[in-house]
Amino acid sequence: MKLMGLISTPPGMRTDAIETTATVVEQVRMARDTYRLRLRCPDVAKRIVPGQFFMVRPSTGSDPLLGRPFALYDVFEENGALAGIDFGYLVVGKLTSEMSRWQPGDMVRIWGPLGNGFPTPPPGRLIMVGGGIGQTPFLAVSREASGARRYGRPARTISANAERLTLLYGVRSREYLAGLDDFRRDGLTIRLSTDDGSEGHHGYVTELLDEEIASDPPAAVYCCGPEPMMHAVSERCERACVPCWLSLESPMACGFGACFSCVVKVKTGDGWDYRRSCVEGPVFRADELVL
Ligand SMILES: Cc1cc2nc3c(=O)[nH]c(=O)nc-3n(C[C@H](O)[C@H](O)[C@H](O)COP(=O)(O)OP(=O)(O)OC[C@H]3O[C@@H](n4cnc5c(N)ncnc54)[C@H](O)[C@@H]3O)c2cc1C
Ligand code: FES
Repeated sequence: MKLMGLISTPPGMRTDAIETTATVVEQVRMARDTYRLRLRCPDVAKRIVPGQFFMVRPSTGSDPLLGRPFALYDVFEENGALAGIDFGYLVVGKLTSEMSRWQPGDMVRIWGPLGNGFPTPPPGRLIMVGGGIGQTPFLAVSREASGARRYGRPARTISANAERLTLLYGVRSREYLAGLDDFRRDGLTIRLSTDDGSEGHHGYVTELLDEEIASDPPAAVYCCGPEPMMHAVSERCERACVPCWLSLESPMACGFGACFSCVVKVKTGDGWDYRRSCVEGPVFRADELVL
């Protein structure tokens, strides 16, 4: 189904997004109920930047009718050229259950890259806070910030920051920890927390953030995860005067600015107004949001 053919381009929609058919290259189990799906789609891989997302749906049929949004985990190369994208997903419902049965060679429809993505990190220390499957955008963020890879067309320029990158990653239990080997590849500092104490700090990831802010205040915090965690991270950053960006996981129906199902409240000069998370986000400055 070609959604784009049915409507005119909504205001603010990124014009470099494309709708295309992608081939499943591999499906790898990362953790409990968590998989990494690799899709061959060179045109999307060349355009996408960390924190952007794409909509995914089966290539045939109309069930589910709507695509679902997934953040970039990383791009991959074949024969020295960008060949496609990886994303990590947690099985929670209809499409993610179906996705876990997709096999190499299967065809899927994707649409992207969508949304704004994270800004290029400022000079100085960057702390990334991921809760649950919310860690997925931070592989590409950290690879870009450490200078291991460049993203976008034209490729974004950043000042490499490798020794000053920290990932704080919290999950319910150790069996949900996903992608640690990928994150360790570029030498960032990783601190873990689990709700049940089965790995790392026994407690919330925000307690690790408190320690890090007190001992070595960062230049910025990037955060993605469950809403209560993002509220808590945002409050802590505000108290410490640390700039904080949140990647929101608002449910999305269209992904390209037409349906307004994803709106969030942002502060304006005289109060607040709505912004579409799929176009003006999903990444927002925490102090601009009405949380
Ligand atoms: C910008 C963005 C990036 C995302 N990136 C990732 C990612 O990298 N990996 C990943 O696993 N997930 C990601 N998500 C969430 C993912 O889109 C949902 O898990 C997915 O839509 C679920 O589809 P489903 O058909 O399996 O579940 P459904 O059958 O549609 O729903 C199953 C259950 O999950 C709830 N649900 C669905 N979507 C959301 C949501 N966004 N927030 C809260 N509850 C929800 C439903 O209310 C329902 O209870 C992202 C979401 C957004 C908006
Ligand atoms: S999901 Fe339709 S406007 Fe954002």
